[in-house]
Amino acid sequence: MKSKIIALGHMAGEDIVTNDYFVKKGLDTSDQWIKERTGIKTRHFVKPETASSDLGYMAAKMCLDNANRLATDIDLIITATSTPDYISFPSTACLIQKKLGCSTIPAFDISAACSGFCYALTTADAFIQSKKFKRILVIGVDCLSTITNMNDRGTCILFGDAAGAALLESSEDDTSGIISSSIQADGNLSDILIVPKGGSKYPFNSNVANEALHYIKMDGSTVFKQAIKIVVSEIKKALSELNLKTEDVDYLVCHQANQRILDKITEHLNIPKEKCLANIHNYGNTSAASIPLVLSEFNKDKGFKKGDLLILAGFGAGFTWGISILRW
Ligand code: ACO
Repeated sequence: MKSKIIALGHMAGEDIVTNDYFVKKGLDTSDQWIKERTGIKTRHFVKPETASSDLGYMAAKMCLDNANRLATDIDLIITATSTPDYISFPSTACLIQKKLGCSTIPAFDISAACSGFCYALTTADAFIQSKKFKRILVIGVDCLSTITNMNDRGTCILFGDAAGAALLESSEDDTSGIISSSIQADGNLSDILIVPKGGSKYPFNSNVANEALHYIKMDGSTVFKQAIKIVVSEIKKALSELNLKTEDVDYLVCHQANQRILDKITEHLNIPKEKCLANIHNYGNTSAASIPLVLSEFNKDKGFKKGDLLILAGFGAGFTWGISILRW
C-alpha cells in the first residue's frame, strides 16, 4: 500500500509587490541586485487581516474541488506553518477545519519553517502506512510578510505569502505514490535563522517591538551554504537507498529560497536545469507553502504524467530538512 497525492491546490497573497517597491520605500537596494542575487522579480503579500488560515482554506478548497472530494471525506488535517493566525492557540489547522466545514476530525499544526511541508507530508505518509487514516489534507502555508522587518534589506526582499495543499490517499496501486520520505534536523544550527524575541523565552513587550526583535533574523550566507550541502548529500543518499540514479529523476522540486541555491543544487547533482521546477521569480520564498505551491502550479499549467519520478526537497530554520521521493 502507498500514499498518493491525488490532488493539489494553491493560493497566494492578493498584493503583488515588485522589487521597486522596496527601492521606493527608501531601502538601499535595487531591482538588479535582487534579481541577480535571488532570482526574485515579484512576491505576493496578504492584505491586512488576511491570515494564514484564509490562504490555507482557499488552497485546501481548490485541492478538494480538484480531487472531487468533500470536506467531510477528510480523516485528518495537518498544517505546516510558522505564521499561525494566533501565536499560541488555536492551531491554524483547526481554523481551516472550521472554514472547510469538516466533520469532527483531528487537526494539528507542524512547525518546521520552510521544511514544514516535507515534515507534514512525511507525517501523513506514516499515518497512512500505519492504516490509522486513509485520507489526509496536508497544507503548507505562511505569511512571512507579517514577521519580516520591512527595513531589513537582507530579509524583506526574500519572502512572500502563500499556501499550497495536497490531498493524500491510501492506494493499493503500487506503481505510483510516495516511495520514501524522510525528515531530519540539526538544532545546533538553530541561531542562523531565528525570530529572536516574542516567544516564551523573551515575551513580547515594547522593548522587543522597538528593537524589532520579533522579526526574522537570518545569517543568509550560512543558510545558503548549509542548504546546498545538506540537500545535495541527502538527495544522493535517498536515491542510492532506492537504487535510483539522478538520470531517473523527472522533476526536482526544491524549496524556493533563492534561484542561485536551485542552480547550485542541480549543478552538483548533474540534473538538467529544466527538470528543476521554479517559480521563485513570481512568488519569492513562501516558506512552508513553496513546495506545494510550485507543485500545484506546475500540475495545473503543464501536468505531471503518471510514472514521473519526483524528488521533493525542503530545508529551513531549525535547521530542518526533508526529502520525499514519489512516483506520480
Ligand atoms: N540589496 C542590496 N544589497 C544587499 C541586500 C539587498 N537587498 N541584501 C544584502 N545586501 C548586501 C549585504 O549587506 C552585503 O553588503 P556588504 O558586503 O557591504 O556587507 C552584500 O549585499 C553581500 O551580502 P551577502 O549576505 O553575502 O549576500 P548574498 O549574495 O549571500 O545574498 C541572500 C544574500 C540573498 C540573503 C542569500 O544569502 C540567500 O538567499 N540566503 C539563503 C536564504 C534562505 O535560503 N533562506 C531559506 C530559509 S527561510 C526559512 O526557513 C523561513
